[in-house]
Amino acid sequence: MNNMIQLEYYPREPQLDKRLAAIATRVRPNAPLFDIGSDHAKLPAYLLRHGHRGEITISDVREKPLLTAKARLGEGNAAFVLSNGFENLRFVSGADIIIAGMGGETIADIILGCPFLQSFTDNERFLLQPMTQQHIMLSRLAECGFMVTDTEEVAVRDKHYTIYLMMKGATE
Ligand SMILES: C[S@@+](CC[C@H](N)C(=O)[O-])C[C@H]1O[C@@H](n2cnc3c(N)ncnc32)[C@H](O)[C@@H]1O
Repeated sequence: MNNMIQLEYYPREPQLDKRLAAIATRVRPNAPLFDIGSDHAKLPAYLLRHGHRGEITISDVREKPLLTAKARLGEGNAAFVLSNGFENLRFVSGADIIIAGMGGETIADIILGCPFLQSFTDNERFLLQPMTQQHIMLSRLAECGFMVTDTEEVAVRDKHYTIYLMMKGATE
Protein backbone atom coordinates (compact mmCIF):
# COMPACT_ATOMS: atom_id res chain seq x y z
CA MET A 1 0.00 0.00 0.00
CA ASN A 2 2.82 2.34 0.97
CA ASN A 3 4.49 1.62 -2.39
CA MET A 4 1.33 2.59 -4.22
CA ILE A 5 1.28 5.95 -2.46
CA GLN A 6 4.90 6.54 -3.33
CA LEU A 7 4.41 5.60 -6.97
CA GLU A 8 1.66 8.16 -7.24
CA TYR A 9 4.21 10.79 -6.27
CA TYR A 10 7.07 9.39 -8.32
CA PRO A 11 6.10 9.07 -11.95
CA ARG A 12 9.77 8.42 -12.65
CA GLU A 13 12.47 6.80 -10.57
CA PRO A 14 14.63 9.58 -9.09
CA GLN A 15 18.05 9.17 -10.72
CA LEU A 16 21.04 9.67 -8.48
CA ASP A 17 24.50 10.37 -9.78
CA LYS A 18 27.43 8.53 -8.17
CA ARG A 19 27.94 11.31 -5.62
CA LEU A 20 24.37 11.17 -4.30
CA ALA A 21 24.23 7.37 -4.65
CA ALA A 22 27.35 7.02 -2.47
CA ILE A 23 25.67 9.11 0.22
CA ALA A 24 22.41 7.18 -0.11
CA THR A 25 24.08 3.82 0.51
CA ARG A 26 25.43 5.07 3.84
CA VAL A 27 22.10 6.15 5.28
CA ARG A 28 20.78 3.70 7.87
CA PRO A 29 17.34 2.52 6.68
CA ASN A 30 15.67 2.97 10.08
CA ALA A 31 17.33 6.22 11.10
CA PRO A 32 15.45 9.50 11.32
CA LEU A 33 16.88 11.39 8.36
CA PHE A 34 17.62 15.09 7.86
CA ASP A 35 18.62 16.42 4.47
CA ILE A 36 19.75 19.99 5.11
CA GLY A 37 20.06 22.11 1.96
CA SER A 38 18.12 19.46 0.09
CA ASP A 39 17.41 21.60 -3.01
CA HIS A 40 16.07 19.12 -5.63
CA ALA A 41 15.37 16.52 -2.86
CA LYS A 42 16.45 13.64 -5.13
CA LEU A 43 18.29 11.92 -2.32
CA PRO A 44 15.42 11.68 0.17
CA ALA A 45 13.04 10.88 -2.70
CA TYR A 46 15.25 7.98 -3.72
CA LEU A 47 15.55 6.72 -0.15
CA LEU A 48 11.81 6.90 0.39
CA ARG A 49 11.23 5.05 -2.83
CA HIS A 50 13.72 2.39 -1.73
CA GLY A 51 12.03 1.72 1.58
CA HIS A 52 13.60 4.15 4.04
CA ARG A 53 11.65 3.61 7.24
CA GLY A 54 12.88 6.46 9.45
CA GLU A 55 11.10 9.79 9.62
CA ILE A 56 12.42 12.16 6.93
CA THR A 57 12.98 15.90 7.36
CA ILE A 58 13.86 18.00 4.35
CA SER A 59 15.06 21.52 4.90
CA ASP A 60 16.40 24.39 2.90
CA VAL A 61 17.02 28.06 3.50
CA ARG A 62 15.00 28.87 0.35
CA GLU A 63 11.29 28.32 -0.16
CA LYS A 64 11.42 27.10 -3.78
CA PRO A 65 13.35 23.87 -3.08
CA LEU A 66 10.77 22.95 -0.47
CA LEU A 67 7.99 23.25 -3.05
CA THR A 68 10.00 21.02 -5.39
CA ALA A 69 10.59 18.57 -2.55
CA LYS A 70 6.89 18.45 -1.66
CA ALA A 71 6.00 17.75 -5.28
CA ARG A 72 8.64 15.03 -5.48
CA LEU A 73 7.96 13.20 -2.23
CA GLY A 74 4.32 13.96 -1.50
CA GLU A 75 3.34 16.19 1.39
CA GLY A 76 2.62 13.41 3.89
CA ASN A 77 5.86 11.49 3.36
CA ALA A 78 8.28 13.91 5.03
CA ALA A 79 8.49 17.11 7.05
CA PHE A 80 9.46 20.14 4.94
CA VAL A 81 11.08 22.90 6.95
CA LEU A 82 12.24 26.33 5.84
CA SER A 83 15.37 26.77 7.92
CA ASN A 84 18.76 28.37 7.90
CA GLY A 85 20.83 25.37 8.95
CA PHE A 86 19.41 23.83 12.12
CA GLU A 87 17.63 27.03 13.20
CA ASN A 88 14.06 25.72 12.85
CA LEU A 89 14.86 22.05 13.35
CA ARG A 90 14.76 20.03 16.54
CA PHE A 91 17.19 17.54 17.95
CA VAL A 92 16.33 13.92 17.12
CA SER A 93 18.38 11.24 18.79
CA GLY A 94 19.98 8.70 16.47
CA ALA A 95 19.49 10.77 13.32
CA ASP A 96 21.46 10.58 10.09
CA ILE A 97 22.10 14.13 8.94
CA ILE A 98 23.07 14.84 5.34
CA ILE A 99 24.64 18.16 4.41
CA ALA A 100 25.90 17.88 0.85
CA GLY A 101 26.77 19.98 -2.15
CA MET A 102 27.80 23.13 -0.27
CA GLY A 103 31.10 24.78 0.56
CA GLY A 104 32.96 23.24 3.47
CA GLU A 105 32.92 26.49 5.40
CA THR A 106 29.15 26.75 5.04
CA ILE A 107 28.77 23.15 6.27
CA ALA A 108 30.93 23.93 9.31
CA ASP A 109 28.91 27.14 9.95
CA ILE A 110 25.67 25.14 9.81
CA ILE A 111 26.86 22.48 12.25
CA LEU A 112 28.71 24.73 14.67
CA GLY A 113 25.84 27.26 14.64
CA CYS A 114 23.33 24.57 15.57
CA PRO A 115 21.28 25.69 18.60
CA PHE A 116 21.44 22.16 20.03
CA LEU A 117 25.06 21.42 19.10
CA GLN A 118 25.75 20.21 22.63
CA SER A 119 23.11 17.48 22.30
CA PHE A 120 24.95 15.61 19.54
CA THR A 121 26.82 12.47 20.55
CA ASP A 122 28.13 9.48 18.65
CA ASN A 123 24.48 8.39 18.20
CA GLU A 124 23.98 10.92 15.43
CA ARG A 125 25.82 10.51 12.16
CA PHE A 126 26.73 13.32 9.79
CA LEU A 127 27.12 12.57 6.10
CA LEU A 128 29.01 15.56 4.77
CA GLN A 129 30.02 16.27 1.20
CA PRO A 130 31.78 19.61 0.82
CA MET A 131 32.29 21.06 -2.67
CA THR A 132 35.23 23.25 -1.56
CA GLN A 133 37.29 24.09 1.54
CA GLN A 134 37.11 20.61 2.96
CA HIS A 135 40.21 21.15 5.10
CA ILE A 136 38.64 24.16 6.77
CA MET A 137 35.48 22.15 7.42
CA LEU A 138 37.45 19.26 8.90
CA SER A 139 39.64 21.38 11.15
CA ARG A 140 36.76 23.51 12.44
CA LEU A 141 34.67 20.42 13.22
CA ALA A 142 37.61 18.58 14.78
CA GLU A 143 38.15 21.53 17.14
CA CYS A 144 34.63 20.99 18.41
CA GLY A 145 34.97 17.27 19.00
CA PHE A 146 33.82 15.84 15.66
CA MET A 147 35.74 12.95 14.20
CA VAL A 148 35.81 11.34 10.78
CA THR A 149 34.90 7.67 10.97
CA ASP A 150 34.88 6.92 7.25
CA THR A 151 35.42 8.58 3.88
CA GLU A 152 34.60 7.72 0.31
CA GLU A 153 36.01 9.25 -2.86
CA VAL A 154 33.69 9.48 -5.81
CA ALA A 155 34.43 10.60 -9.37
CA VAL A 156 31.64 11.94 -11.54
CA ARG A 157 32.92 12.75 -15.03
CA ASP A 158 35.96 15.01 -14.39
CA LYS A 159 34.97 15.98 -10.84
CA HIS A 160 36.07 14.34 -7.62
CA TYR A 161 34.10 14.43 -4.42
CA THR A 162 34.79 13.19 -0.90
CA ILE A 163 32.02 12.03 1.36
CA TYR A 164 32.78 12.16 5.07
CA LEU A 165 31.00 10.16 7.70
CA MET A 166 31.45 12.11 10.92
CA MET A 167 30.15 12.06 14.45
CA LYS A 168 30.76 13.91 17.64
CA GLY A 169 33.07 12.07 20.02
CA ALA A 170 31.50 10.59 23.12
CA THR A 171 33.77 12.85 25.16
CA GLU A 172 35.25 16.23 24.30
C1 LIG B 1 23.95 23.08 -4.50
S1 LIG B 1 22.55 22.69 -3.55
C2 LIG B 1 22.93 21.04 -3.01
C3 LIG B 1 21.70 20.17 -3.10
C4 LIG B 1 21.90 18.74 -2.59
N1 LIG B 1 22.15 18.72 -1.16
C5 LIG B 1 23.01 18.04 -3.33
O1 LIG B 1 24.01 17.71 -2.72
O2 LIG B 1 22.84 17.80 -4.54
C6 LIG B 1 22.76 23.63 -2.05
C7 LIG B 1 21.44 23.89 -1.33
O3 LIG B 1 21.76 24.28 0.01
C8 LIG B 1 20.88 25.32 0.38
N2 LIG B 1 21.52 26.07 1.48
C9 LIG B 1 22.59 26.89 1.42
N3 LIG B 1 22.88 27.37 2.63
C10 LIG B 1 21.98 26.82 3.49
C11 LIG B 1 21.73 26.95 4.88
N4 LIG B 1 22.50 27.74 5.66
N5 LIG B 1 20.71 26.25 5.44
C12 LIG B 1 19.93 25.47 4.67
N6 LIG B 1 20.09 25.32 3.34
C13 LIG B 1 21.11 25.99 2.75
C14 LIG B 1 20.68 26.12 -0.89
O4 LIG B 1 19.50 26.89 -0.84
C15 LIG B 1 20.62 25.00 -1.93
O5 LIG B 1 19.31 24.57 -2.16
